[in-house]
Amino acid sequence: MAEHVMAIDQGTTSTRAIVFDRHGAIVATAQREHAQIFPRAGWVEHDPVEIWTNTEWVVSHALGKARLNAADLAGIGVTNQRETAIVWDRRTGRPVYNAVVWQDTRTQDRLDRLADQAERITGITGLPLATYFSASKLAWILDNAPGARDAAEAGDILFGTPDTWIVWNLTGGPSGGEHVTDVTNASRTLLMDLTTLDWSEELLAVWGIPRAMLPAIRSSSEVVGTAQLPAVVRRVPVAGILGDQQAAAFGQAAFDEGQSKNTYGTGNFLLVNTGTELVRSSHGLITTVAYRCGTDAARYALEGSIAVTGSLVQWLRDNLGIIRTSQEVQTLAESVEDNGGAYFVPAFSGLFAPYWRQDARGALVGLTRFVTKAHIARAALESTAFQTRDVIGAVTADTGRELDELRVDGGMTHNDLLMQFQADILGIPVVRPRVVETTALGAAYAAGLATGVWAGFDDLRAHWQEDRRFEPVMPVEERDRRYRTWQKAVSKSLGWVD
Ligand code: G3P
Repeated sequence: MAEHVMAIDQGTTSTRAIVFDRHGAIVATAQREHAQIFPRAGWVEHDPVEIWTNTEWVVSHALGKARLNAADLAGIGVTNQRETAIVWDRRTGRPVYNAVVWQDTRTQDRLDRLADQAERITGITGLPLATYFSASKLAWILDNAPGARDAAEAGDILFGTPDTWIVWNLTGGPSGGEHVTDVTNASRTLLMDLTTLDWSEELLAVWGIPRAMLPAIRSSSEVVGTAQLPAVVRRVPVAGILGDQQAAAFGQAAFDEGQSKNTYGTGNFLLVNTGTELVRSSHGLITTVAYRCGTDAARYALEGSIAVTGSLVQWLRDNLGIIRTSQEVQTLAESVEDNGGAYFVPAFSGLFAPYWRQDARGALVGLTRFVTKAHIARAALESTAFQTRDVIGAVTADTGRELDELRVDGGMTHNDLLMQFQADILGIPVVRPRVVETTALGAAYAAGLATGVWAGFDDLRAHWQEDRRFEPVMPVEERDRRYRTWQKAVSKSLGWVD
């Protein structure tokens, strides 16, 4: 009997395929990075064809490394960078433009023109009117890719976030691919009504988007089609789709109201499960769908989205060249006792939660002749912890409850220096699980639930195991002093763009 599940994790910087066994343990992994395309300041693009080619490669290699074949896989789950907009020709499968990535800020002027409708749009979608989400990116592509608007009106081109693009190609592309998304991804487009869980006709009219180009919205855990490509997974059911942050919460077994997780990836994303209740934030958090399994009621979450955390470490590597590998940041930062007075606000895409200030830009402040590249590395790491404290402050203000610990996951959680500083700056324990690849695990869980590998949530909860708990040790006055300085640094980054 097929007892393994494959997760495809199409992230911002790379695509991975991970094979899990029925205990939730990793059997094999394959990963490929794709190019980050920066045509102008504030623009970020990916090549969708490169992403699909990489997907085929990682799927084949992970299966090969696991020494398994299609018959051993009960299902495939797909998880993805959210919001990123892709538009392609339904007959040829060719994208009409590069993917416009969630970090891209080119559509600010469109949003400014809709400012008087911002409250209404937030009321329908749970999201602030920001360049982060898909709708303005999709409208930009329709207006700028030659012939796109006419083709959209004729029903010749399709839209999707990366989950939709992957599933469409996986299930057969131009010769019969399924054009679907799941409710978590749809909730990030600025086009879905959070209460009906369907596309909002009103918002489609606001953005000028023909409904025919939008995918069908499915639940996060159900069979949506059967894989055709690559050939090594032919006939395996595609049985789960979740946006990557929702997948990480699912992989952390945060199924119940009040449970939360913080994922440290390209950016950081904190989700607090609010159960079947749709909680509106008045402190800068997003209301989003946490998951929906089959025909069960949808579960909602409050989310604190931070645009730049891990990608700041990449920036130190690629743009400044002060480290050669991302891992080196910890050694460099540990070579000094503290940040030497330097604070780094990485507002490269403006500031997301809880500020939602598109006019912010990156600021490195507090510099003196004393500051070295090691202090800058430390300030960069610390910015991740400070931004997380900003977001947790908003959670406390919205829910009226303090978190008693923070469950973390994602690549940067291997960095013990950062995890200890995170606990110190929050004043609560930070808890790291054994499997920090919870994004892929969550997608595998969704697919395995739909195909009978696991009977229910209790099976999955039993897999969760603690690796390490970081207890806060910093004196309260010191923590508060540093956080006040951070807030001063944030104020310097605001209002930079007119
Ligand atoms: O909302 C953006 C988020 O989904 C990106 O996640 O892990 O690719 O940084 P990641």
